[in-house]
Order: sequence, then C-alpha cells, then structure tokens
Amino acid sequence: MCGIVGILGQEPVAMRLVEALRRLEYRGYDSAGIAVLEDGRLERVRAPGKLNNLVERLLASPLAATCGIGHTRWATHGAPNETNAHPHFAGPVAIVHNGIIENFKSLREGLLKDGVKTATDTDTEVVAHLIAQRLKAGDAPRQAVQNTLDKLEGAFAFVILFEGEEDLLIGARRGSPLAVGHGDGEMFLGSDAIALAPFTNRVTYLEDGDMAVLTRSSLELYDSQGRHTLRPLQFTQASALLVDKGGHRHFMAKEIAEQPDVVGHTMAEYLDFNAGRVRLPDMPVDLAGLSRINITACGTAYYAGLAAKYWIEQIARLPVEVDVASEFRYREAPLEEGGLSLVISQSGETADTLAALRYCKARGQKVAAVVNVPESTIARESDVVLRTFAGPEIGVASTKAYTCQLTVLAAFSIALARARGKLDDEGEARLVTAMNGLPRNLVRALREDGHIEEVAQKIAHSRDILYLGRGINYPTALEGALKLKEISYIHAEGYAAGELKHGPIALIDEDVPVVVIAPSDTLFDKTVSNMEEVAARGARIVLITDEEGAAHHGRNAFETISVPLADPFLAPILFAIPVQLLAYHAAVFLGTDVDQPRNLAKSVTVE
Ligand code: M6R
Repeated sequence: MCGIVGILGQEPVAMRLVEALRRLEYRGYDSAGIAVLEDGRLERVRAPGKLNNLVERLLASPLAATCGIGHTRWATHGAPNETNAHPHFAGPVAIVHNGIIENFKSLREGLLKDGVKTATDTDTEVVAHLIAQRLKAGDAPRQAVQNTLDKLEGAFAFVILFEGEEDLLIGARRGSPLAVGHGDGEMFLGSDAIALAPFTNRVTYLEDGDMAVLTRSSLELYDSQGRHTLRPLQFTQASALLVDKGGHRHFMAKEIAEQPDVVGHTMAEYLDFNAGRVRLPDMPVDLAGLSRINITACGTAYYAGLAAKYWIEQIARLPVEVDVASEFRYREAPLEEGGLSLVISQSGETADTLAALRYCKARGQKVAAVVNVPESTIARESDVVLRTFAGPEIGVASTKAYTCQLTVLAAFSIALARARGKLDDEGEARLVTAMNGLPRNLVRALREDGHIEEVAQKIAHSRDILYLGRGINYPTALEGALKLKEISYIHAEGYAAGELKHGPIALIDEDVPVVVIAPSDTLFDKTVSNMEEVAARGARIVLITDEEGAAHHGRNAFETISVPLADPFLAPILFAIPVQLLAYHAAVFLGTDVDQPRNLAKSVTVE
C-alpha cells in the first residue's frame, strides 16, 4: 500500500510530483522516489525515509523534465531502503506500483531462467522486466503492458513511463485505486483525487481491471477484457489546500481538539434537534424487516462497529455480528439475500474492508458504508453512504474519525430502534436531546488535557499497560490500548473487565498500570469490583470515570480522570477523549513520531 502519481505536464515536474506525493504520504512513508524523462532519458531520484529526504536530494540537483512518475512507499516486499524504493527500472521501462503481486516469485524465476538480472527484492521490478521483455519482443507499449497484466495475480495499481516516449503514460489498476486527472494540455494519474487536487478538479476514476493510456491531450481507457471503454468525468471536491496543524504541535493534537466541532457537524447531518428525530438517507432495505445486521471494519473502525453492536442490540433489539474485515470472508459467513451489511472505514480504501463489502454484495446483501472520504472506493461501491464529517484526518492514529463514526452509528441505532418499534417518540427525543449535549461535553472532557498529560507522564515508562471496560465501554478499552501502542510503542491490551481473572490477572504487579474505563452506569459497581481485584495485587489504577464515579471511587485509584456526567448511551464517544489524550501525551513524552508512527500507514490498501 503505497501512493503513486504520474504527470504529463507543461512545466518542470519534479516538485509537482513531490506536491502530489505529500498528499499521498498517508499511504506510506518508508521511502519516496521519482523518475522523469530528462532529454528523453530516464532519470530517477530516490531516498529512504520521509518525503523530505527526497526533497533535499531534488533541491541539490534540480531536474527540468516535464513528465514523470512518483511513489511514496509502505514496504511489502524488500526492506525499506533506497535500492528497494520506487520507481523501478528495467531497460526503457520505469514503473511505480501500489499493491502486491502474489505470483511474483514464479514470475521472477521465469525471468532468471531467461537470463534477466534483477537489482532489487521487490515484486515491482519483476513487472518492469516483464514489460521490457515484451517491448524487446516487438510489442508497442500498450500491448506490452496488457500482455504483462495478463500474467499477474494480486491487487495492484501501476503508473508506467517509457524511455523515449515524452508524451505517454500508462496506468492500470486491479484492486488498488487509480484516478486520471484532466488538465489543460496536461494529464495526471494518482492513487486518489486528493493527490491530483493541486492540478485539477476534473477526474476519471478507473474501474477495476482498467488500463489508461494518456498523452497530454488524450485519454484512452481499456477494460479488463482489453476492450475500448469510457468512464465518466467527475468534478471532485477534494481540496487543493493541504491541511495544516492549525497551531498545534501535531496533527493528532489538532484532530483530538476538533472533535466537538466535527461531531457537531456530523450530528447536524443526521439529527433534527427541533423535532427530536433522527433522519437517515434513503436506505436500500426496509429496516423494520431485518433479522440481523453484520458489521465489518478494521482497527479503530472495528471498535466503532463493536460499540454499535451494543447500541443496536440494546435499543433496537436486533442481533448484530461484528467481524474484523481481514478475517470475515475466511469464516465464509452465510448471509441472507436482501439483508444489510455495514462497513466502516475512515479512508474508504482499506483493502480488507473493501473485500468484505464485495463479499457481502456478491451474496445479495445491501451495503451501507460509514465513510469519511466520500469519493473513496468503498463509498462508490456501497448502496448507501452514511458519511462522517470529520474532515481530513492526517494523523495515522484515528481520533476524530472514530468519534464521528460512533456519532453516525448512534444515530443509525436510534433510527433502527424506531423503525422496529422498539423506541417510541419520547425515547427517540430523549436520546436525540442527549446527543445534542455532546459537543459541549466533549469540550469539557478536553479541558482535562493538562491533568491527563501529568498522568501520561507517570505511566509512560511502563512496559505493559492494561485497559479494562465492561459492556459498551469494553470497545473503548480496546481502542485505548490500540491508540497507546500504535503511537507510544508501549505494549497495551484491552480486556473486558470480567475476563481479567480468567488469565490476564497473572500479569498484574506494581509495574503494570491498569486503566479502568467506568462511567457511573448500571455496571459501575461490577467494574469497580474488578478494579479492586487488581488494586489488591498492587496494580496502579488509572480510573477514567465521570464526575459521579470520581466522587464515589476516585480515592481508590492511583489517578482519576473525570469526564462530565452524561447519558450512559454517549459513553463510547465521550470516553474516547481521555484515552486518546492519554496515548497522545505518553507518545509526546517518549518522543516518538506521533503523526507518522513507525511501520504504519494511514490507509492500508493491501490485504
Ligand atoms: O481507513 P480505515 O478506517 O478503514 O482504517 C482502518 C484502520 O487501519 C485504522 O483505524 C487503524 O487501526 C488506525 N491507525 C487506528 O488508529
């Protein structure tokens, strides 16, 4: 999962490629590189690590070329060093690639038998050699690419540049996304419309299996069968402005702080506060007639789905199955034709979630997608989009997208409960009114920032930290642990509070802090009992509760973090704030790369 771009331009292209790559860094940042045609000859500049390393090299030796390709990498095959950085060359072919070629080993063996020498460990270089072989055999560039594509297995997108062809770029996709941008006398290819936004808002999205042949004045498209085809030209709303940190030290800090606004914005789309009603877009199924719902997502979005299971089962009395998308299709879940599946994804490009969506559709399910990027593949392939209005989320750790997903899912649960006759007018109005208070309560929760920073510093040197929650707060424990480990690299696990004594309690000693998420709801006393069990074994307890819980049990904890007292229905959204801040401050204290933590990427477009 990487970001790829190609430009046939009228002006020097190197820094334009960098501009596009900067907008694709969310797809990976292990290395970056560009290749251009300088006086008809292929030249490339590559650098390991972040994009700025590449910029330094480009500034040191500027290029005048007006056509080129670029890549920002999340390593799949081969270490993240300069040798393995894209673009890859083979004879007159330069290629950038996003995805994985699953049969690359057998293809490589074939090349080696033919006497071809490879320079890298990557699957991508194999593709470059295959195309070069076809060119040598006399194929024209399009035919050479088509013949090569026919041999490949896996999910991928490519942009290819040919030595001596100053007015030609070829792009192809199978599984991974690719879009064509139309300029004035210029043409572009990119992994998404956001990458192309500085240059054009006129975009054609390639369909799966498509190949695009671009010159500065033309676009020819071929479908998976090699037939000439047409795809619609769309006007994208992707912003040309690169989001900045707005005075914050990190994007993550900015995005945490934005939550009262973006949750409010998202609520405004789905809730009519005057009428005390939820309004959903037209749904592709009759909600009243459903016998169950299944939800699939990855990572943080999966935890949002897990919280939705509690909401839906509790108030709409409808059974819900929740799966991590990377496992879902392997259990070969039987799905009812005409039923409803929910997929949840910030980026709308997560490969496993997309595969789950396609699995559901292939079995006759209608799919509703809770998505933050409205032009994403998942949004485009779903029957209805329940959009979150989080705005661009740049920090790899998902924060505001999560609370906006929860907001949409809470609204959806209320609508479902209404449609199924499990909630009356009064019940709906009560929950809508409670949600109305969310932005104000989120602001108040954020005011604990200074105190949470102190707590984070006290526990940041721990090797392991456990998070406990019960009922609908169990997903928050899982999310808190994920947030901490991904940005601070402290080992953390979330557990259902009652599950601790079935094994994990063996880990407890005075060096293992235990973060307990316990609003003063009907399960509070039970969770407090679990808290006392670990306190008795020497654990340092960080109790995250509300004002009432703090008043009753705060003294038993090593540290108590308090959020405003609110309807327990809202706890997943409100309690997300302290767990995010705890992770953020621990990471800042330890000096990690908060916005771009090691080994991760914002959007995981490989399975
Ligand atoms: O874009 P998506 O919501 O589909 O991404 C899913 C996960 O990759 C994502 O939530 C990941 O777990 C985050 N880094 C968590 O902070």
